[in-house]
Amino acid sequence: MAAGKDPLPPYFNIDPAEAARKLSDPIDTARFAKAAAFATKGREDLARRGYAPDGKKRLRRFSTWEVCRYLIPVAPAHFRRVLKKNPDLPQGTGEGNSKWFTLEEVLTLRRYFAAEGASDREYLPWRPEGLPAKIIAVSNFKGGTSKTTTTAHLAMSAALDGYKVLVIDLDSQGSLTSIMGGTVEDEWSTAFPLLAKDYALALEEENRVRAAAGEPPLPFDETLTEALGVSPRNLIQKTHWPNIDLLGAQLNLYWAEFQIPVWRMGLRSWPLWDALGNALANERVLYDYDIVFIDTPPALGYLTINALAAADILLVPLGASFLEFDSTGRFFDMLYSTFASVEEGENAARRRAGLPEIKFEWDAVRAIITRFDAAQQTDLANVIQAYFGDFMTTFRQDMTAMVGQAGEQVNGIYEADYRDFNRDTYVRGRETFDRTWAEVKELILGTWWRDLQLMEQDEEDRGHQHGQAQEA
Ligand SMILES: Nc1ncnc2c1ncn2[C@@H]1O[C@H](COP(=O)(O)OP(=O)(O)O)[C@@H](O)[C@H]1O
Ligand SMILES: [Mg+2]
Repeated sequence: MAAGKDPLPPYFNIDPAEAARKLSDPIDTARFAKAAAFATKGREDLARRGYAPDGKKRLRRFSTWEVCRYLIPVAPAHFRRVLKKNPDLPQGTGEGNSKWFTLEEVLTLRRYFAAEGASDREYLPWRPEGLPAKIIAVSNFKGGTSKTTTTAHLAMSAALDGYKVLVIDLDSQGSLTSIMGGTVEDEWSTAFPLLAKDYALALEEENRVRAAAGEPPLPFDETLTEALGVSPRNLIQKTHWPNIDLLGAQLNLYWAEFQIPVWRMGLRSWPLWDALGNALANERVLYDYDIVFIDTPPALGYLTINALAAADILLVPLGASFLEFDSTGRFFDMLYSTFASVEEGENAARRRAGLPEIKFEWDAVRAIITRFDAAQQTDLANVIQAYFGDFMTTFRQDMTAMVGQAGEQVNGIYEADYRDFNRDTYVRGRETFDRTWAEVKELILGTWWRDLQLMEQDEEDRGHQHGQAQEA
């Protein structure tokens, strides 16, 4: 075909007058309400056609092969012998050699092996007694970097490993909440009331001081009064995973981004960044769990700042591309300036008041490459690795078709039934998330261990001081 006969690309010869005729009138605010109303109708229509989830998620069962391969380190033959000898133990369902077990049953079997099995095997994951849960925040201000996917998979790996997990969704889009099958009516079933309560407590304290000085109290509105009656345990819901609980999110949670600065204006001394951490610590929620994972919105707003300030470990997922590397660098820069300015402002006031200074500190921070395509991105990933150094996990989370294929009932690799996939695809896909978990678990165990040493050192020092005091 002659070059001249090729049709022109579509962006030539657009007639402005014709384009203007196609336009509707300018869009006013009310038009969004109309779009939302249409979307609601469409949603109902889709639900009638069977596209919507039935709202009840069910976790699949796990086969003998999976249990012995991935969950409890025993040989299948030994596993079967133990079950046969102990008819009280869960026997699983299904014909033939391969039985299928619920996760509850797996957890029961795991406890049995831990109590009765070989002592040199790790049947139960290690966790120091008497220490609070480790809090891991997954954050980056760019969207689509696999924050939610990584958080969900980590929570599920930790649960399969036998840990008791709390996931907190701080993204008002509520993706993690959907994955965990959560239902959230409004902002009163999200982290919002916990933040409000922290402010209300600070305000109460301030008003006590004012009353003592004969000053009028600062106003206390209905929201704050209501928040005072809220307890985190009433907000946390069970999920279809027996050992994962959820503090969910919903669109209205976004309101916190507007409300928090208003509160802070009302009471400049309120440490707004500590609200979530306080809520988890004050009522000892952290002692109900082993690990808390927090998914954050793609922004460095007040919710994310709360997640980061509460976190022991910060994970920053990014893709191996120039743009994601660049924006992650800026994210670190923003973290630096945000927290440094909080420290500066706070410590200036604290020095004046003769109080000890504050300092933000994390046990560990790791950037992690996600959706990695070794064939295309190895060079770039190596460069990124070189620049981030020990700020980066050595492991890269591969792109896998098994994540994209998540359906309404099934989310990600751990919920999928391996029989639906080619065995190699399954094993490789699963391995990439297992290895992500292994690196994060190593950080958790290492920092717990370090905490234990510090605690013991502390006790020793106190004992020593006590001895000296007695001598004197
Ligand atoms: N390892 C992976 N392989 C394939 N797709 C992935 C992987 N990780 C994430 N995705 C996909 O990338 C998209 C963005 O992931 P998501 O976790 O929602 O990112 P974020 O929470 O950072 O916005 C989703 O469609 C998700 O299914
Ligand atoms: Mg997300």
